[in-house]
Amino acid sequence: MSHHLQNLVLKIWRQTGPNDAGHFESYRIDDISDEASFLEMLDVLNERLIADGKEAIVFDHDCREGICGTCSLMINGQAHGPQKGTATCQLHMRTFRSGDEIVVEPWRATAFPIIKDLMVDRAAFDRIIEAGGFITADTGGAPDANLIPVPKPVADAAMDAAECIGCGACVAACPNGAANLFTSAKIAHLNLLPQGQAERYSRVEAMVDTMDQYFGSCTNHGECEAACPKGISIDFIAMMNQDYRKAKFKNRKALART
Ligand code: FES
Repeated sequence: MSHHLQNLVLKIWRQTGPNDAGHFESYRIDDISDEASFLEMLDVLNERLIADGKEAIVFDHDCREGICGTCSLMINGQAHGPQKGTATCQLHMRTFRSGDEIVVEPWRATAFPIIKDLMVDRAAFDRIIEAGGFITADTGGAPDANLIPVPKPVADAAMDAAECIGCGACVAACPNGAANLFTSAKIAHLNLLPQGQAERYSRVEAMVDTMDQYFGSCTNHGECEAACPKGISIDFIAMMNQDYRKAKFKNRKALART
């Protein structure tokens, strides 16, 4: 298959550290194959910068196959770029045309301070998971698949929620910098299943309260769902809100009994 070469202008955010004001820098980059991934294109740019004695551009990445959630670029104002259902590492240069100017920025959110250039600190997500995104009961060895019956639609919904890779695109896309889509997905994949029931209400209360400490409030813009590379549904936010309201009653009753 023949492939085309592109000549591009990249406007990339450079910032030396969390306290630096930061600025855009423009780079011309020629002869990029349209079969290259977006991150491979940045690799080529970095090799050329290093060869010229300049500092490479810092950006996050690990798996490069849409699993780990570390790649996180705002490309032309869209989280993970213009292609729906695609993480930055899965984006290919054929999405662009030779002669294009491409603006590349880090996630912009108060809860995600910029570490350097295009890399942000998503530790606030870890705080939410630490508050309840786990099961404390000893589940033992792997049981037979049918030992605990789970209705198929429930199992499917739990798996849909478990697709969240924690990249933070939902926060970056939200005008309020809210983390409701992330938090609701992490709650739902446990709260939907039998193994998650014991801590269902304490989990939702602790995780939502932690989320509120770091992130903005959801006002139902729906930008999160549109930006999510895994197509996580905002229905999970409705489920979270329902469980949170119930938790406010149930947890008080549970407290009264102690
Ligand atoms: S690098 Fe792992 S999801 Fe993109």
